[in-house]
Amino acid sequence: MSCISLKRLTFMFVIACVVWCSSIGTYIARKGNYRKGRSKWNPPHKTTPKPKAPTHSIPPPSIGLKSLTCDALEPRAFQDAWSDACKVERSTVLVPPKFTFLVGPVSFSGANCQPNIVFQLDGIIIAPTDFQCWGNGSLPWLEFTYLRGGVTVQGKGILDGRGSRWWKDDGKEPKIPLNTSFQQIPPIQVIYLLQFPPTPKDRNEFSGNMPRKKPTGITIRNSPQFHLKFNHCKRVVVHVMTADSPGDSPNTDGIHLHNSQDVLIHSSNLSCGDDCIYIQSGSTNVSIFNVSCGPGHGISIGGLGRNYISKACVSNITFRNIVMHNTTNGARIKTWQGGRGSVQGVVFSNIQVSQVVRPIVINQFYCGEKHKTECRNQTAAVALSGITFEKIRGTYKDKAVDIACSDNVPCRGITLSAIELTPAPNERPRTDDTFCWQAFVEFTAPMVPPIGCLKTEKLLNNKAQSNRDVC
Ligand SMILES: *[C@@H]1O[C@H](CO)[C@@H](O)[C@H](O)[C@H]1NC(C)=O
Ligand SMILES: *[C@@H]1O[C@H](CO)[C@@H](O)[C@H](O)[C@H]1NC(C)=O
Ligand SMILES: *[C@@H]1O[C@H](CO)[C@@H](O)[C@H](O)[C@H]1NC(C)=O
Ligand SMILES: *[C@@H]1O[C@H](CO)[C@@H](O)[C@H](O)[C@H]1NC(C)=O
Ligand SMILES: *[C@@H]1O[C@H](CO)[C@@H](O)[C@H](O)[C@H]1NC(C)=O
Ligand SMILES: *[C@@H]1O[C@H](CO)[C@@H](O)[C@H](O)[C@H]1NC(C)=O
Ligand SMILES: *[C@@H]1O[C@H](CO)[C@@H](O)[C@H](O)[C@H]1NC(C)=O
Ligand SMILES: *[C@@H]1O[C@H](CO)[C@@H](O)[C@H](O)[C@H]1NC(C)=O
Repeated sequence: MSCISLKRLTFMFVIACVVWCSSIGTYIARKGNYRKGRSKWNPPHKTTPKPKAPTHSIPPPSIGLKSLTCDALEPRAFQDAWSDACKVERSTVLVPPKFTFLVGPVSFSGANCQPNIVFQLDGIIIAPTDFQCWGNGSLPWLEFTYLRGGVTVQGKGILDGRGSRWWKDDGKEPKIPLNTSFQQIPPIQVIYLLQFPPTPKDRNEFSGNMPRKKPTGITIRNSPQFHLKFNHCKRVVVHVMTADSPGDSPNTDGIHLHNSQDVLIHSSNLSCGDDCIYIQSGSTNVSIFNVSCGPGHGISIGGLGRNYISKACVSNITFRNIVMHNTTNGARIKTWQGGRGSVQGVVFSNIQVSQVVRPIVINQFYCGEKHKTECRNQTAAVALSGITFEKIRGTYKDKAVDIACSDNVPCRGITLSAIELTPAPNERPRTDDTFCWQAFVEFTAPMVPPIGCLKTEKLLNNKAQSNRDVC
């Protein structure tokens, strides 16, 4: 059984992913058996010191980087180190400092792994730019899957996707030369610092062993598309990460969450050519704080509901202490017309914007740039409720607030509190600096610039939000 659902994403560069297939119960059972097996060798009531978990260092590259052909790829060395590390709990795969490795695409499967494997990235890993290295184009660059017992990717190394090769942009889509034998674009993806503390008990033990020093994190740069993607992941921690791609690189989202829950992302700097953080359907209990974003398209939930068959469900998402500079959007929720499902319980709090084109956006008429001709007016919509924007301050370039909700499924329970947005230098206030359509909004001063929205909830028992919309 595959846990990865590619669906519409197959045409994109896919996955940098942790998959947690088994339940926690399964994990505990496995661990219990393991302990029981060991206790045979130990006298009762006496704990033996744990053997030190081994480190498996990747040998220095055997082929000079002068010849950056597919022949220079060394996935074997990585895969061997990974499978050795998987044999002993808490083992480390070390990508040693001062070396540059040309690797990819490569998949690290946790299916046969002991818990808490560490991927210590201190060197540099670069992606091949040669088209032929990417096989039939369905493989991600670096992928972690089936990690039942958790993995930590850490270090101060760099993942360089060398994406400019693929961007050649016309502003819309990456111009990737199609391999005509497959009619597919080669997927390239990067992973990054994902921590996966298995159980609270283990987590305490784990942090007890960690030196309390200022963390230095991994950098992912020049990603051909998304920098880091989590799909079907639970209990994810990303921190002290840097994503660094130019503002005009197409489709290079910073961090992408899909079907993932209990996620913590903090203390990271994300510069990219698309959404800094992009949250897709199936995500719940996500907390994001102390993140800087820019250049980029801002922080975004959706586009949701493009797939009419399945419900889009997003809930309990908090963004706090976010700094955005020179981004096209600030805090944004976007849904396609005709979708099903709901977005509930979203807080955008303490967002500092400077020179952001549209700091506050809800768009229930979203229609991706490339799909303008596909979009028709429809009555169904993903229902939005319980959305708070508070302490959103700074400067904007075009529209301070842009809220456009569906006529049939208006946005409910929207709160705008302590909004202080002024035009960026050289931008003058216009009469259309705010827009609010079909949204029930509660205001708490200050509200600058002022904005008119629906105030009283008249449609409380309206049938518009039928059962088919409830997640
Ligand atoms: C397309 O991919 C196939 C299989 O990987 C490869 O043999 C072929 O050389 C590629 N074609 C081009 C034009 O790169
Ligand atoms: C591409 O290759 C992978 C494994 O190498 C295979 O699973 C997949 O089905 C292939 N896709 C296509 C479209 O040929
Ligand atoms: C992010 O940028 C700020 C300001 O340049 C810097 O102080 C901080 O260390 C950076 N954080 C990371 C994770 O690189
Ligand atoms: C803002 O971003 C745009 C697009 O990435 C870039 O061209 C421009 O130089 C940036 N401006 C500033 C002041 O950073
Ligand atoms: C939400 O996620 C955090 C970890 O980020 C976890 O500690 C907490 O228990 C989760 N809350 C719920 C209600 O599952
Ligand atoms: C979401 O938030 C609600 C209300 O605060 C809470 O009851 C629920 O447990 C949360 N769910 C998750 C998965 O965090
Ligand atoms: C987040 O930022 C705030 C304000 O700068 C700071 O007080 C707090 O310690 C930061 N939290 C973390 C986990 O870095
Ligand atoms: C959708 O509705 C809007 C507003 O009612 C209208 O201006 C627009 O022309 C319609 N579009 C289509 C494709 O019917």
